[in-house]
Amino acid sequence: MSTEAAPTRAPAMAARAEQPLLRVRDLTMAFPGKRSATGRRGAPVRAVDGVSFDLEAGRTLGLVGESGCGKSTTGRMLVRLLEPTSGSVEFDGKDISRLSQRALRPLRRNLQMVFQDPHSSLNPRQTVARIISDPLLVQGSGAADARRRAAELMELVGLIPEHIDRYPHEFSGGQAQRIGIARSLATNPRLIVADEPVSALDVSVQAQIVNLMERLRAELGLAYVFIAHDLSVVKRVSDRVAVMYLGRIVEMGDKKSLYENPQHPYTRALLSAVPLPDPAAERRRERIVLLGDPPSPAAPPPGCTFHPRCPVAQEICRTERPLLRTVASREVACHMA
Ligand SMILES: Nc1ncnc2c1ncn2[C@@H]1O[C@H](COP(=O)(O)OP(=O)(O)OP(=O)(O)O)[C@@H](O)[C@H]1O
Ligand SMILES: [Mg+2]
Repeated sequence: MSTEAAPTRAPAMAARAEQPLLRVRDLTMAFPGKRSATGRRGAPVRAVDGVSFDLEAGRTLGLVGESGCGKSTTGRMLVRLLEPTSGSVEFDGKDISRLSQRALRPLRRNLQMVFQDPHSSLNPRQTVARIISDPLLVQGSGAADARRRAAELMELVGLIPEHIDRYPHEFSGGQAQRIGIARSLATNPRLIVADEPVSALDVSVQAQIVNLMERLRAELGLAYVFIAHDLSVVKRVSDRVAVMYLGRIVEMGDKKSLYENPQHPYTRALLSAVPLPDPAAERRRERIVLLGDPPSPAAPPPGCTFHPRCPVAQEICRTERPLLRTVASREVACHMA
């Protein structure tokens, strides 16, 4: 069902029961390889390699994994800041992965992104009024309406509407991220991809922004793809969690069962690094230290790409690529699970 013509959400709501808001299948991004000094191109970098998941309206999927595993590239394809090499992204039943920029325009308002560094993602020469109302002006709103809406949004995200004519540098990091969130909400989106939205903030401010995003999700029925490397943040905000390694999802499931009973050795290693709030449990915590760095996506190891660092790898792991399969009510790509 299309939401293009309908400014209200009612028709889209009706569609929700039948299909997920977001249906991602086999999403792949192969960046062209770097040129060497002799001008020859290296192997393509498969930054994202066959990612599939569903996301229901009003829900949050957490996306975690080490630096370089393809989280941001995935996020950017979901909102079509990047066009995938192959695979599909269906938003509300419509495949947006191949649409032209022109055909995308009416859908854009539904898909927004919040970035990691609030200050560098806000234009320092624009006032808050201009920054927040920009998406509305692009969509054809009048200046007075857009300004009124910007003030409303400032209030919604906990900023003082009287500060509407200030510039980004006059705000703290946490406040600047609230401006970024307000801007992302301007067009009444249904999906927000938040790429490390609190990683650049002080720990005390992180909690405030996470709480704000939780409240907005509940009030506005938003769906989030929440990208982070901090597993405790992801645990707070997500309904489901997908763990990525070298461009692929290696484990995905309901947050509670995944955190309590991880099946993939990589998930176990990631979780073993998270400090526990209970001091007794924290004393018993055994860290699984992974050897070496993740391999380059330009030259992934054969078989299971995790095998060179895996503490339980067997012969089959060196030769056969494990596919995602259902183990203990979640999906796991591991021969040993
Ligand atoms: N435009 C590009 N051209 C070539 N390679 C790229 C490009 N963008 C990303 N990559 C490569 O793709 C891989 C995935 O990058 P991506 O930024 O998606 O990872 P990430 O999981 O978001 O990492 P981080 O946690 O550091 O933000 C990396 O190896 C990166 O070097
Ligand atoms: Mg990233």
